[in-house]
Amino acid sequence: MAKTASLKLDDKEYPLPIIEGTEGEKAIDTRTLRAASGYIAYDQGYGNTGSCESKITFLDGDNGILRHRGYPIDQLANQSDFVETAYLVIYGDLPNQARRKEFGLLLRKNAAVETQMQKILEGFPTNASPMAMLSALVSALPAYHADLATNNFEKDLQNFDLAAAVAMSKIRTFVAMIYRYQKGLPFIFPKQELPFCDNFLHMMFSEPYKDYIAMPEVAKALNLLLLLHADHEQNCSTSTVRMVGSSAANLFTSISAGICALSGPLHGGANVAVMQMLQSIHDEGDDGTRFIAAAKSGSKSNRLMGFGHAVYRNFDPRAKIIGDACDTVLRKLGVEDPLLVIAKNLEQAALKDEYFVTRKLYPNVDFYSGIIMRALGIPMNMFTTMFAIGRAPGYIANWREVASNPKGRIYRPRQVYVGVTKRDYVPMAQRG
Ligand code: CMC
Repeated sequence: MAKTASLKLDDKEYPLPIIEGTEGEKAIDTRTLRAASGYIAYDQGYGNTGSCESKITFLDGDNGILRHRGYPIDQLANQSDFVETAYLVIYGDLPNQARRKEFGLLLRKNAAVETQMQKILEGFPTNASPMAMLSALVSALPAYHADLATNNFEKDLQNFDLAAAVAMSKIRTFVAMIYRYQKGLPFIFPKQELPFCDNFLHMMFSEPYKDYIAMPEVAKALNLLLLLHADHEQNCSTSTVRMVGSSAANLFTSISAGICALSGPLHGGANVAVMQMLQSIHDEGDDGTRFIAAAKSGSKSNRLMGFGHAVYRNFDPRAKIIGDACDTVLRKLGVEDPLLVIAKNLEQAALKDEYFVTRKLYPNVDFYSGIIMRALGIPMNMFTTMFAIGRAPGYIANWREVASNPKGRIYRPRQVYVGVTKRDYVPMAQRG
């Protein structure tokens, strides 16, 4: 028999169905509550609200578990690469050789950006925020691929494979173009024969008549970095993609909204904030004591960046992998970064501090990702756009789930109104 929960309100009982996920996650289905009782469920920030059923990513924050389509993140990090993991996240299974080749080819064929789109970029001041430029370019994609972006789920799903490849491949090209535009360098065309990450590095760092050829260690480190960002359940930007998508908006428009959400310092922008913090500690010759003390004040603007997570209460498995990779990558590249030493000392100090221990605040993925990006030659202001390249598969897979759900509804939360109650309009002449 199906399990139900019972809610007692004003002496009346309301049975509420229980939904159980494949990993034993339990939820009380409150969808009928308002119609039956007049009450809504209140959950500011949705921290305890399941907004959807999803088959993409399983995350157990209490035990530091992250799995994509069933595969543990450490196995993917050790054995897969970004494009294969992207395929897995988007399509649900690891590709066989033929499917992997097909997917790779589609990505390669759709890497180049239309000349007219370059003009959009050139309309921005060169010092504009790279995330603002990126979301604008992605939101312009429907204009150049109208057949893939009809705002009709059925039609857009028929062209999904191509739309997904366009989104993933072009987001990467846009990021390289933004970097070069800001530096006043000419754009570099993608090279069809190069793998995804090598091609990105080629478009970023090639010089006229001198192709940049990525060292295998560099391409591997970039693969790992992007792979670790591929998806992360219902985070702020992915939920935004789902919310916008639920209005039947096309894939590109929905992703563009996600990129806007990602830009905030409490989300994707944290990787920049971490590096700024580490740099300040370095410049001040401090050992981090001042930042730790300030972080304990409870003020949001003084938080220890790269620490804490809305869901993980034990450790962020991605942080563990990336923290270890930092050492390896820097050693292989022969880079000595004083910020890595500061980060490690800061981590040790915070992990011993009662404030952080009692609140279960551990380093998250952003704590070390900036150090790897710096070693790869990526400037700090581009860090969050790198996160966006990595998160694109997650956005795509989540949009697809929304678009393919025949029972899906438009996302439309309720609120508890706490404003002024009804009053009558007062003409201007009578106002004090
Ligand atoms: N430094 C100092 N105090 C903190 C921090 C921090 N980084 N994070 C949380 N706290 C405090 C918070 O003020 C609260 O204190 P109290 O109980 O005294 O009111 C307590 O710890 C519990 O906070 P929480 O409920 O765990 O935090 P949250 O769910 O509201 O916020 C967070 C999660 C990630 C926004 C927050 O931890 C934070 O601002 N971290 C720094 C920014 C950061 O690194 N963001 C990247 C997140 S991972 C990548 C991504 O998913 O985008």
